[in-house]
Amino acid sequence: MEKRLLRVLKRQPADRPPFWFMRQAGRYLPEYQELRRSQPDFLRFCYTPDLAVEATLQPIRRFQPDAAILFSDILVVADALDRKVRFVEGQGPVMEALTDAAAVGALSTTGLKERLAPVYEAVARLGEVLPSEVALIGFAGAPWTVALYMIEGRGGTEGARARSWAYAEPEVFAALIDVLVNATVCHLSAQIARGAEAVQLFDSWAGLLAADEFRRWVIAPTAEIVRRLRAEHSGIPIIGFPRGAGVLYADYVRETGVDAVSLDAGVPIGWVAEVLQPLCAVQGNLDNYLLRVGGTELDRATDRLIDTLGRGPFIFNLGHGVLPVTPVEHVMRVAARLHGRALE
Ligand code: CP3
Repeated sequence: MEKRLLRVLKRQPADRPPFWFMRQAGRYLPEYQELRRSQPDFLRFCYTPDLAVEATLQPIRRFQPDAAILFSDILVVADALDRKVRFVEGQGPVMEALTDAAAVGALSTTGLKERLAPVYEAVARLGEVLPSEVALIGFAGAPWTVALYMIEGRGGTEGARARSWAYAEPEVFAALIDVLVNATVCHLSAQIARGAEAVQLFDSWAGLLAADEFRRWVIAPTAEIVRRLRAEHSGIPIIGFPRGAGVLYADYVRETGVDAVSLDAGVPIGWVAEVLQPLCAVQGNLDNYLLRVGGTELDRATDRLIDTLGRGPFIFNLGHGVLPVTPVEHVMRVAARLHGRALE
């Protein structure tokens, strides 16, 4: 029997909705915090296959979800493009900001696969050790979101410089997006070649863009990535996550050709059932703050998602990543509820 997650990504029925949690590995898990202490440099942690494999497996042992997501980060691609990314405690990612056309022209994807070889090594090892019913998801940041970090040099900026640059010098900006399309195809393709069974594109800052800009910098590059990945790896399921896209989720699905779309918590699920689910599989959209708070309200929201979306192709997940302050018992509670629930 094919893995539950892969069945649903092909829009085939499953005995219950598969589930996993975005950021299911990470700081809310005490065993992750302990493992992290052995390597305080976050990127080195990501580039050490033993550590990346162990961090990937920790939530699998706790919750038995239907998918493992490779432990890595979207910014390894910026790092491999020589942007020298650092993660600063309490501040998140920091790098020297891209500021002009010359810096964009100097970017090169040559040697990217070699630099990221430890990431692909972790993927290959995971294929050997994961329980047989758990699917392995590879991932990358989508070009717009990675470009935003490369231009801002850090998070927490609302993308002020990136959004201005895209209007002021669209040709230069397009050249940056082109490099990132190539880098993303290269990075995902290497993960698939080593055993990733599905891939997710994180476009965490898609919702910052005006509608026409969204078409140009989110939909068009994603469509290109989907087309090229399919040409190289026929049948590979692709999940897109244009967080904050609102009604543009529908155009995103139609025009990119993704197999599934991951929904933030702001998308009304009645609309999802009516408009998106006939087009593709859907994933999400439990509010990560409700997971943090827990209680019967969390149970109700879990049931409501399954009652509304569970009959179509649906992957239970959050609207955004598990927050570091989330009690592990709350994640356990949702996992137990999902395991116990078969669709009648
Ligand atoms: O379990 C998993 O989901 C797999 C691992 C994973 C990480 N980052 C590990 C991580 C994944 C899929 C990501 C994706 C990622 N990284 C995104 C897209 C998803 C989203 O949340 O919107 C983005 C925007 C990033 C960039 C990034 N990485 C930021 C802004 C930060 C700092 C803020 C934060 O959440 O800590 C990171 C660091 C990071 N990536 C950590 C982890 C576990 C924390 C690092 C630590 O241990 O201190």
